[in-house]
Amino acid sequence: MLTEVGRPVEIRELELIEPRDGEVLVRMLASGVCHSDLHVRDAEWDRPTPIVMGHEGAGIVEAIGPGVTTTRVGDLVALSWLIPCGVCRMCRRGEVWACPDSPSYRHALLDGTTAFRGVRSYCAIATMAERTVVPAAGAIPVPPTTDPAVAALIGCCVTTGVGAVLKTANVPAGRSVAVIGLGGVGLSCVMGAVLAGASPIIAIDRVPAKLDVARSLGATSTMLADDDALSTSRALVDATDGGPDYVFEAIGRPSTVEQAIASLPVGGTAVLVGMTPAGERASFEVYPFVDGARRILASNYGSAEPASDFPRYAAWSIEGKLPADRLIDRRIGLDDVEDAFAAMRRGEYVRQVIEFD
Ligand SMILES: NC(=O)c1ccc[n+]([C@@H]2O[C@H](COP(=O)([O-])OP(=O)(O)OC[C@H]3O[C@@H](n4cnc5c(N)ncnc54)[C@H](O)[C@@H]3O)[C@@H](O)[C@H]2O)c1
Ligand SMILES: [Zn+2]
Ligand SMILES: [Zn+2]
Repeated sequence: MLTEVGRPVEIRELELIEPRDGEVLVRMLASGVCHSDLHVRDAEWDRPTPIVMGHEGAGIVEAIGPGVTTTRVGDLVALSWLIPCGVCRMCRRGEVWACPDSPSYRHALLDGTTAFRGVRSYCAIATMAERTVVPAAGAIPVPPTTDPAVAALIGCCVTTGVGAVLKTANVPAGRSVAVIGLGGVGLSCVMGAVLAGASPIIAIDRVPAKLDVARSLGATSTMLADDDALSTSRALVDATDGGPDYVFEAIGRPSTVEQAIASLPVGGTAVLVGMTPAGERASFEVYPFVDGARRILASNYGSAEPASDFPRYAAWSIEGKLPADRLIDRRIGLDDVEDAFAAMRRGEYVRQVIEFD
């Protein structure tokens, strides 16, 4: 847990409530470490504290409160970090990924109380815990044969990246795609581009090892990012006959957001997936952007409808169509989370996953 943003995470014994109406107790099996956890740890985003971190996890339902009909004791569930309120304008339209009233933004249960006494749960799910109590709508059953670590990743990076390509942007087969930033999110965009039948698929990172993983997942070519974002952009334009039809930014830096937009050909689309530190701004020259009918899309949670998308992505992982297991290159314990954050700051590892005994 974090006692304050900007401080190291600490291991504490906390008291957990029993699940009440509409709540589910989950024994965690796996939790990924996502850069969004690091944004909070590094005080790039303000969040209420004290708070149990983690928002990319899976586990077994150990108990359910009264009225829970969507999951049973013993189910393998992937946890959703955006629990729809069900009543706002976006939820009523079915665009649950854009719900502004989600309890996830209050880091609390539906009635505003906390699952851990006096301590919030990040995104209302707190996956970096041995056990957690979550609103039932956040516990999505997936096929029991799903690798629990993959189920955890379906909770954030896989759904975010694959959904950005297949759902937010709905990339047609045969279009060219570039992905900037090859962490768990960006490499999931690469897997999504493969599923969409995009061609070519160009993957870009400043860490050479990430380029190898991208190629193994189906990227047709790779580029090592230059420190000068605009020179990388020029190289990308040259490599793709005037620019890729779709560019996914999966880092969250103003310079690479501007790089994505600057790389677009006429009619091209930049899809912003990375999240910057709070307050950051990016800019672009308006006239050629409008004159060339270019577009910018923002993708939150890969436009996910977790109740239907999670089991679908899990089934694809079992069939081998979505090789999400290949994102996992380090398995750690809860004690190693600070070390995992340090590695992530250096750009090391694709996805580090906490495994619980
Ligand atoms: N939109 C959403 O719903 C959503 C969901 C999850 C995560 N995110 C955000 O997506 C971003 C990526 O998350 P992640 O967990 O994959 O992060 P990560 O740290 O694992 O990966 C980022 C990658 O970017 C590379 N990189 C950094 N600076 C670069 C540069 N200048 N040029 C090229 N490559 C560079 C790093 O080497 C690394 O491989 C974060 O900002 C995270 O908060 C957004
Ligand atoms: Zn995440
Ligand atoms: Zn809502």
